[in-house]
Amino acid sequence: MTHLRLDLMPKLQSITRWRFPVRANVIVFLFTAVFIFLCMRYLPERKCQPDEHTLRGNKPKYRLIALILSNPDNLERRNTIRKTWLAESDATVKHFFVVGTQDILPEQRNTLQSEKQKFDDLLLLPRLQDSYGTLTKKVLYTLKAVHEHYDFDYLLKCDDDSYVVVHKLLKELDKWQSKGTRRELYWGFFNGRAQVKRSGPWKETDWILCDHYLPYAVGGGYVLSYNLIEFIAKNADILKLQNSEDVSVGLWLAPLANIERKHDVRFDTEYRSRGCSNQYIVTHKLTVQNMLSMHDYYQVSLGALCPKEFRNRMSYHYNWTVPPSQCCNRQSGIP
Ligand SMILES: *[C@@H]1O[C@H](CO)[C@@H](O)[C@H](O)[C@H]1NC(C)=O
Repeated sequence: MTHLRLDLMPKLQSITRWRFPVRANVIVFLFTAVFIFLCMRYLPERKCQPDEHTLRGNKPKYRLIALILSNPDNLERRNTIRKTWLAESDATVKHFFVVGTQDILPEQRNTLQSEKQKFDDLLLLPRLQDSYGTLTKKVLYTLKAVHEHYDFDYLLKCDDDSYVVVHKLLKELDKWQSKGTRRELYWGFFNGRAQVKRSGPWKETDWILCDHYLPYAVGGGYVLSYNLIEFIAKNADILKLQNSEDVSVGLWLAPLANIERKHDVRFDTEYRSRGCSNQYIVTHKLTVQNMLSMHDYYQVSLGALCPKEFRNRMSYHYNWTVPPSQCCNRQSGIP
């Protein structure tokens, strides 16, 4: 018994002796707990999990990103665009020529490298073989890459045979934004009754959703607001890719609320040009020569595109109040 007591004594004594430090430990513990609580309560938005806005804040910001889909061999087209409509652009616009570089020839690679060094405006996709069959992937990869590295308000997708009146496009965007609808923008020349292609380079073998494609803005040029790009970029891995990139974008954006599909006859962006109108903001299917003379005229006329306006085919106003199959009746007198 005595032994036991003697054994216990030092322990009791030590506890008594450490009474104050134990309290200090408790205080330190509480302090830490409160600190951790506060950190978890207030920091997640800032440090622990940086949110979208912090991430967006660190990226270079532009009013408009212009993506011009090109291919490894189209240097002449790119140079023509650089010295024509891009020369009228401004610092709020960032443009990229997009080229897939998988399996290209060494000499193509060399040419692209020196072009990249000279102009710093190529967006090269090393994991994409550049061909008709991969266009949708090309658009998807590009949207992902641009979303990852840039902040912007709007994005234009066009081709290297499209002519864009950039300042007009920017002015229209300002106008649209100043209406204050706070809706997402999907702007271009819409088609709601396009036949599903069953042959040719654009054939769709696994379109099963409807007799027609869902309404989409045709691919020669269309504009999307940032949140739409973000939606596509974030869901890139689970989206269904159709053969045509423009059909795919229409499909991807089909379920979204709060989106304005703005049909605009000033987008001459179908697979065949409707002609020339001075109202056009985007014109598609131009040869290098077409583009050069259009731009020459644009400069001497201070903003007009054609010395003489003409129509190759009729246009339409989109009717959103009727079923898509009746959306798009071509009539004369529409640009
Ligand atoms: C759309 O179609 C309806 C029904 O035919 C018609 O009443 C209306 O005027 C059309 N709207 C436009 C903008 O063409």
